[in-house]
Amino acid sequence: MKIGFCYDTKGDYGYAEDNLEYTDFVSLHTISEIGKAIEQNGYELEYIGNVYKLRDQLIHNTFNCDMIFNIAEGFGSRNREAILPSLLELYQIPHTASDTYGMSINLNKHHTKILVNSIDIPTPKGVCFNTLTEEIINKIPDLGFPFILKPNTEGGSMGLHLIGSMEEFIRQSNYLIKTYSFELLAEEYIKGSEITVPIIGSGEKAEALGVVTILNEDGTDINLYNNSLKQIDNVINTTTFKYGDELKKKIMDYSVRIHNFFGLYDYSRMDFRISQDGQPYFLEINAMPSLCRDCSFEQCGKLAGMTYYQTIGRIIESARMRYGI
Ligand SMILES: Nc1ncnc2c1ncn2[C@@H]1O[C@H](COP(=O)(O)OP(=O)(O)O)[C@@H](O)[C@H]1O
Ligand SMILES: [Mg+2]
Repeated sequence: MKIGFCYDTKGDYGYAEDNLEYTDFVSLHTISEIGKAIEQNGYELEYIGNVYKLRDQLIHNTFNCDMIFNIAEGFGSRNREAILPSLLELYQIPHTASDTYGMSINLNKHHTKILVNSIDIPTPKGVCFNTLTEEIINKIPDLGFPFILKPNTEGGSMGLHLIGSMEEFIRQSNYLIKTYSFELLAEEYIKGSEITVPIIGSGEKAEALGVVTILNEDGTDINLYNNSLKQIDNVINTTTFKYGDELKKKIMDYSVRIHNFFGLYDYSRMDFRISQDGQPYFLEINAMPSLCRDCSFEQCGKLAGMTYYQTIGRIIESARMRYGI
């Protein structure tokens, strides 16, 4: 079986490989590690690249893969992650990861939270807006200070701020609306632990691999998993969960329920915070989470006796099972 590999690189969009401002795209190193893992699973591999390269192959009839391994994040709109799966759906090409619907909805943190709340999973209070009206300003004190301000449809902690005053809120909102152009989300700040839950599989076969807690190097809770902490790697990711098995199981169950509620495919990762009184709050879905070396998938996979390449293999098997190929 031949697998085509689709991804975006920073270079495709004019960013230098070491640029830390636009953080959505994977590194060339990760592309090569995933590529090697696909081959180690016995598949023939073609490095295709982004949606434009895929489109060219389809138009010129040079596409000759049996399925696509898709980690292309897309660029430029709130549907950016959905564009490549849409093209694949149009041409009826099997692929790993979620479809157009799953990819679009996972990028809208506000809508996702409203729906997640509807299945009785707690989320932080929030207000979503694209203009600073008096009505919005009046709702802010309900969130308490400090609170979180972030773009509603970005990732990689881009534009993330902890806001300490009304004056700072107005200043940062004006700046972020100009910079990111989409909506902003102001959210109650959940002080406590930062956790993330990798999931593999689809439907009844979906399974949470474990719970990863992200800590400062000295073992304390991180206040904010911001852009520089994500990039510079001075945090500890641990699969040891300090709140006990009951809460761990509850969070893993929540995560699988969210994955299946939205009908996500093959793998995803759910971000939560646990408040200081031990209550989990769901923050967001990552329907195209990082598969870099030492990511939560590799870490939790190891606990189940799987190597990195076997974990990637499970993602491919999940897609093959869905398509019956
Ligand atoms: N309501 C919140 N309370 C506490 N921390 C938050 C909250 N929202 C976001 N954060 C912090 O910001 C980080 C990034 O936010 P998140 O919603 O996961 O967006 P993304 O990872 O897509 O940029 C989180 O991992 C967490 O550290
Ligand atoms: Mg996140």
